[in-house]
This record gives sequence, structure tokens and C-alpha cells, in this order.
Amino acid sequence: MKKRDSHPRSGVFPEAWDRGPDPETLVPGQAAKLAELREIAPPRAADYERASRGLAGAADPAELLERHSMILGRERGQVTLALGEVGKLPIEERKRTGRALNLIKRWLAEISEARRSQLEAAADSRSGPDVTLPGRRPWVGRPHVLAQIQSELLDLFHGLGYSVYESRESELDEYNFGKLNFAPDHPARDAHDTYFLSPGVVMRTHTSPGWVRAMEERRPPLRLVFPGRVYRAEQVDASHMDQFHQIDGLNVGPDVSMADLKGTLNTFARSIYGERVRTRLIPIYFPFVEPGCQMDVSCVICDGRGAVTENGSERRCSVCRGSGWLEVLGAGMVHPNVLRAVGYDPEQVTGFAFGMGLERIAMLRHGVPEIRLFLENDVRFLGQF
Ligand code: PHE
Repeated sequence: MKKRDSHPRSGVFPEAWDRGPDPETLVPGQAAKLAELREIAPPRAADYERASRGLAGAADPAELLERHSMILGRERGQVTLALGEVGKLPIEERKRTGRALNLIKRWLAEISEARRSQLEAAADSRSGPDVTLPGRRPWVGRPHVLAQIQSELLDLFHGLGYSVYESRESELDEYNFGKLNFAPDHPARDAHDTYFLSPGVVMRTHTSPGWVRAMEERRPPLRLVFPGRVYRAEQVDASHMDQFHQIDGLNVGPDVSMADLKGTLNTFARSIYGERVRTRLIPIYFPFVEPGCQMDVSCVICDGRGAVTENGSERRCSVCRGSGWLEVLGAGMVHPNVLRAVGYDPEQVTGFAFGMGLERIAMLRHGVPEIRLFLENDVRFLGQF
């Protein structure tokens, strides 16, 4: 065809674009379009083919945009410029060229758009999960350190024949104090020390009111442990919280003695603080026991020496403050008035009871200097146990 030979490829686009893929897969029907262009404006068909391959072969969005502007840019795009020239053409060429350029403009825009979606889809699939990354260890929870100690204690007492009795946290004044033989004017009953919910109702200040509830419900003999949270209107500092956890124990029967108490407490101490621990009972007053005592264990840090060796020199043990002993619980024989208050006959049954704080055990065992950490729920702290 003579006409085509007299219009060699204009070469307005880089020759390298010819190596781009056939855009047929992006926008079908290329052969028909080329045929149509060759029919109406053969030289434009060559430009179209090169431009279409250039768009289809753009390696990434930036290259595509660059090529798109070069071809279709509103100001400097080759197609735009060519359209601007149409008016200068001889009248009979004007119509055909104008039509060809408009077709080219539309078809190339379609290819450009199709390539853009294709590149975006590829980028999306690349930003999906990288299957070559090592797996993430799933987060595994565990019981709170206090819950761990509580179950350890419940397990220990279970082995000694004790069942668990769970009692309410909001408690009648009468059960928290009155039936436990607190005098009406006992300072613990003051609102400075105890949270009152309403007159006659308090947040329990210890787990001991559970004894009263259990004894009112059941007949002796009974062996029970009472775990739970307790509340006191404390000034909060490193060793005081206004809520903490206790476990009380209660053993009531026909001839429960102080010797039984001592044996039970020693078993507890050895299980929790180790076989080598020494214990001592010191008389102390609690309204609900008579006699009452506190149990101390030999200091777990200095082994009862009251001093520790550090860099070759002796220094006072800071945990027991040099005494060699740590106070770990309160205990005693259940006061006859408490037995009477629940309808038991102190001539027929006797009992012992003890009560301990879980935070204290956890702090000693794990060397935790700050009681507030237990309730802050910071997994960096809790995850250590
Ligand atoms: N209930 C006491 C307290 O909270 C502890 C205790 C329990 C003392 C049993 C003696 C007997 O301090």
C-alpha cells in the first residue's frame, strides 16, 4: 500500500515500547481496532500499537503514570497535541484523522486504566500475609499470681480435709463484727477503717465472717477454708492496699485443740515456705479467738539470721528488718462467744481458726516490693509468674 509507505512510523513514542505485551488480555478486541485504524489512518495505527504496548508493559504505577502523561496528558500528551493539529489538515484528511485520534484516545485510555487496576491488584496481593515469616507465638494467658497461690493453698488444705466455703464480699456489720465478738465500740467498726455501704452493711474487712455463715448453716464437725477479697479503708502505699485477699481456715469439732492448730500451721508453713522453715507462735489479741496468736516463720530471705552477706560484708536483712522472723498469719481457738452466737455449745465443741493474706505470701515468695502491682493488671508484671 503506497499510502502506508509514504507515512513511516512516526516514532513519537520510544521504540522499546514495542517489546511490551499485546494488550489483548487487558482489553480484548485489539486486532479489530488495529484493522480499523489501518483502514482510516494507517500511520496512526503504528503509533497506537506502540503506545498500547507501552501502557500494557508499564512495570509499576509510576512508570504507567509517566507513559500515560506522555500519550494522553491533557497539555503535552502526544494524542492531545495531534488532536490540536487536526484543524490544520486538509479538509478531507481532517475528518478521518480526527476520528482515528478520538478512537485512539479512548482505546488507549481503556488500556491505561486496565493496566492500572492490574498493577493495584498485584500490589494488594503482595501486601497480604508473608507466608515465609516465622509464625507468631499465640498469646497464652495464665492464672493471676494471687490465684496461683490461692489454688496452691486450697489444694494443700483440701489434702488436710478442708472444703471451700465462699462467702459474700458485702457483709452485714453483724457478721463482720458483732457475731465475731467485736465490742460495740471496737475501733475497726469505725468508718475510718471500714467501708460502709449503708448503716449496718460493710465491705467485709476479713474473710472470718464466713465462719459465722457456715456455722449457722451447718452442724459440727466442720473443716472449711474461706478464700476471698477483703476491704479496708487504708491509706494506700507500697505495702497497704484498700483491697487484698485472704484465706481463713476453720476446724470445729468435739475435741479440736491448740495442738491440732499448731500441727496444721506447721504443715502449712513447710509446704509454703519450705521444709527448713522454723515457726513460732506469739500471743496476740483478736476478739474472735481465745487464746489468740500470730505465727511467725523464720525469715525466708536471711534464713532467720537477721542479716545477709553482700560483697563479703554483713548487712541487716531488710525483709525481716533484722529480727529473723516474719509474721505470716493470725490464729487461735474460736472464742466461746462466737460459738454461742451461731448456736453451738462451747462445752460440746471447740475449734481453731487461722487467717492469712495472699499478697504477703506472693510478695515474699517472688520478692515483689510493691503490693499495688497485684491489682494493676499490667501483663508485663503478671506475665512473670
Ligand atoms: N481475721 C483476722 C484478720 O483479718 C485474721 C485471723 C483469722 C486471726 C483467724 C485469728 C484467727 O486479721
